Amino acid sequence: MEIDLLIHSAAQVVSARRRDGAPQRGAQLGELTIIRDGAVAIRGGQIVAVGTTAAVRRQVGPAEREIDATGRVVTPGFVDPHTHLVWMGDRAAEFEQRIAGASYQEIMAAGGGIISTVRATRQATVAELVDAARPRLERMLAHGSTTVEVKTGYGLNTDAELRQLEASVILDREHPVRVVPTFLGAHAIPAEYRGHTAAYVELVVTEMLPAVVEKSRELGLDSLPFCDVFCEEGAFDLAQSRRILEAARELGFPLKIHADEFQPLGGARLAVELGAVSADHLVVTAPADIAALGAAETVAVSLPSTPFGLGQSAYTPARALLAAGAALALATDCNPGTAWNESLPFVMALACRYLKITPAQALVATTLNSACALNWGARIGVLAPGYAADLLLLDIPDYRHLGYRFGTNPVALVVKDGQVVG
Ligand code: NIG
Ligand code: FE
Repeated sequence: MEIDLLIHSAAQVVSARRRDGAPQRGAQLGELTIIRDGAVAIRGGQIVAVGTTAAVRRQVGPAEREIDATGRVVTPGFVDPHTHLVWMGDRAAEFEQRIAGASYQEIMAAGGGIISTVRATRQATVAELVDAARPRLERMLAHGSTTVEVKTGYGLNTDAELRQLEASVILDREHPVRVVPTFLGAHAIPAEYRGHTAAYVELVVTEMLPAVVEKSRELGLDSLPFCDVFCEEGAFDLAQSRRILEAARELGFPLKIHADEFQPLGGARLAVELGAVSADHLVVTAPADIAALGAAETVAVSLPSTPFGLGQSAYTPARALLAAGAALALATDCNPGTAWNESLPFVMALACRYLKITPAQALVATTLNSACALNWGARIGVLAPGYAADLLLLDIPDYRHLGYRFGTNPVALVVKDGQVVG
């Protein structure tokens, strides 16, 4: 069998040991296959063989191209399952206000925060949104992300939300990174609905959700985007979150939720009840809700860049989630307010220290498990025959340098769908 690309002689080829499309849960998290002097063979954008260099060379025919990975580690491409990548405007001044003592929620209540990004984003055309997001996506790719979820949520009216959605679909088509879109019309209450949250919820349900269905068809998407809600004090309460997510589920949207970032409103339990694909943030999650996540399919997505970005000391209780049996994933939450971080390797470094997880656990949480948080776990996030050939050459001698080192970029080469793209 002739192949397109053979990556050989790697110090380690490292991947999650699980191949049924399901995440690694609880105590299982971090089970790896580590192949020394490893090789990966690729044909037609897919992985066709993984093993020692000698074994793979015996198994496959000559390769059109070979890459010598001596002294390097090969991993799956990283999957970032929670970002707010498409935005306009600038919030550096807010960062200074927070350093001076203002809280994120005080700034939000005063009409700043998300709403200030909304003012700028509403004025932009689709092309301007794409141009603003592209360099961010470029830097994510350079840091090893080959799949990135992108939310709307800075439009907050039907037209502006649809422009954000379209921008993410264009980015998916024009850029090597695989972009998975999410509709987050319920990210904040826009200024014109201040004090009238219930009316805004009805707008989301009766106008925006059907418009997103229509737009998805028009854009030729093979499935609906995710629908997400910011369930939080000052944003949407539990009943309003339920109203939106139930309506979305009725229309066939897969679900996500921002839960327990600042106040424990019960969003994680709602996610479990509604069969959401993921519940994200999970900083102040109540013990009963941790237990619920432990018994559910819903993936628990932790975003340690956010408390770090806000200078807060509380992080996701990852060990309690794992003790309960939950499937833990990690994401950047890249956004202009709380966490402008484009690097999953930096997220891994934070997670090892503040979530107290090992590099092996952090690696699975940013590959297989984060793919599962996007319903992509059967096709990406693992190095095994049949999976998409999304993989990285890392300039480190041992995979545990992920997490251990931070502040420099370990990624030497990025392959997406079998093509060298970075
Ligand atoms: O995930 N929590 C809500 N949304 C973002 C922040 C967005 C913003 O401040 O612009 C988050 O942290
Ligand atoms: Fe977020």
